[in-house]
Amino acid sequence: MSEMLPDFAVSILTIATSLFVFGLGSAVLVVSVLYVLDVTQTRHAIRRNYPVIGRLRYVFEHLGTFFRQYFFAMDREEMPFNREQRSWVDRASKNVDSTVAFGSTRDLKPRGTVLFVNCPFPTLEQDAAPTQGVTIGPACRTPYRTDSLFNISGMSFGAISKPAVLALSNGARMAGCWMNTGEGGLSPYHLEGGGDIVFQIGTAKYGVRNRDGNLSDEKLREIAAHDQVKMFELKMSQGAKPGKGGILPSGKVTPEIAAIRGIDVARDSISPNRHVDINSADDLLDMIERVRRVTG
Ligand SMILES: Cc1cc2nc3c(=O)[nH]c(=O)nc-3n(C[C@H](O)[C@H](O)[C@H](O)COP(=O)(O)O)c2cc1C
Repeated sequence: MSEMLPDFAVSILTIATSLFVFGLGSAVLVVSVLYVLDVTQTRHAIRRNYPVIGRLRYVFEHLGTFFRQYFFAMDREEMPFNREQRSWVDRASKNVDSTVAFGSTRDLKPRGTVLFVNCPFPTLEQDAAPTQGVTIGPACRTPYRTDSLFNISGMSFGAISKPAVLALSNGARMAGCWMNTGEGGLSPYHLEGGGDIVFQIGTAKYGVRNRDGNLSDEKLREIAAHDQVKMFELKMSQGAKPGKGGILPSGKVTPEIAAIRGIDVARDSISPNRHVDINSADDLLDMIERVRRVTG
């Protein structure tokens, strides 16, 4: 055959054949190594019983998340926000039409879900006028007036990242609502967006603590001196971890987070199950009175 083909074609064929043989050889080698690894290990029964191909299960399990999302999940099925809700938010955020047409894609049949009652005197727009607002702490030095019904609940800087805090604080300003800092203290990113801020005093008193972990009047005053900080919230315990305290693992305690929270860098930080200095209703009232007196 080599006499019939030009030299360069023979070279290409030779290289291609070698590559193929080499590729096949490598593949056989890799499969053999995986086979030996699988049949000798004792941690995964599937890999031991079905060496090599058993590994596909983990691949499909991983891919399944994406397949389900695009092909199988119904519009109102996912948690915490389903596709229908996410698309509405997406449309609203892009200022494209977010009006919802009549008719429901919800299942209205199960009892108790939705109850239609005929109304002889339907609500007019003026009846549903926005709230007139409330004054919180009218007896304080600096009461806070707000008409915002929806606000941003606490998520600590450290639990969420700088871009997330920035996005939320910008959103708070644009929506005219307040943002709760969560127990992780006040970061520059909370202030950067310009929205109103509620400073949360958690059980570890991050951001307003002395070196020994006790509440510091001086720190409280520093935080209150920011115009944007409108209120202080005293979080009594760890609602998301009932009966347990919280822990910020050492790996997450960067120099920035340590400085904002007032704790040591790269050391586990414990947020106790309750305030160590609030053991009764009397203690609680004393604490509220103290925070109010110091911060206004
Ligand atoms: C990442 C993260 C951090 C949180 N940090 C705090 C916190 O520091 N203080 C607090 O009171 N709640 C904290 N929460 C709880 C939220 O404020 C909220 O109450 C909770 O997520 C339930 O609301 P949802 O169902 O809308 O998520 C946190 C929640 C998340 C997801």
